[in-house]
Amino acid sequence: MNFNSDFTKKAVIQTNDLDWVPSPAAGVSRIFLDRIGDEVARATSIVRYEPNAFFDAHTHDGGEEIFVLDGVFSDEGGDHPAGTYIRNPPESKHTPYSKEGCVLFVKLRQFHSEDRSTIRIDTNAATWYPGLVPGLSVMPLHEFDGVGTALVKWAPDTIFNPHVHPGGEEILVLQGVFHDEHGSYPTGTWIRSPRYSKHAPFTKSEGALIYVKTGHLDYPL
Ligand SMILES: [Fe+2]
Ligand SMILES: [Fe+2]
Repeated sequence: MNFNSDFTKKAVIQTNDLDWVPSPAAGVSRIFLDRIGDEVARATSIVRYEPNAFFDAHTHDGGEEIFVLDGVFSDEGGDHPAGTYIRNPPESKHTPYSKEGCVLFVKLRQFHSEDRSTIRIDTNAATWYPGLVPGLSVMPLHEFDGVGTALVKWAPDTIFNPHVHPGGEEILVLQGVFHDEHGSYPTGTWIRSPRYSKHAPFTKSEGALIYVKTGHLDYPL
């Protein structure tokens, strides 16, 4: 199944408006954001575990990136509460489950073949750095070969410079409302903007917290 698979096109999904689709694992359902392939796919999804749901042991052939949005996600490596950023590199394996249930942002098979670092960051406790303009704070999560991932916190009424994304940009709005001249994106909105897209983003009274990845839409698929 291919879905939002033309990366030269902008894609915007308000995930709060969509229905959950059951996965092959009992108690695990998902919302597709983009996808190339069937059950073995290069995919970006929101995944929900009901309480006590688990997934069979699996190996991450192409790597797995997770941001825990809600609840507590667990595996042999421990319990990962909301706000945890996880990277499981190619050839890693685990048996994930959730006691209380959880909601995850998951990107599968999107690792550079030489990126073998395992990462666990509790963003509730990690350091924020000043951004490029007043009102902006940045928490770097990962960087490899021109692809960068970060959380960016926007104070209310912050205005950022107009800019171009040579390698594309992907955003998930975690809190508040994110804006640019193309639209307004409340909490739960996923935005994928193609290579060389441009915008001038800003916030209003709500402020915003966003997950941002740049540079990755440059990759051959
Ligand atoms: Fe996994
Ligand atoms: Fe941008």
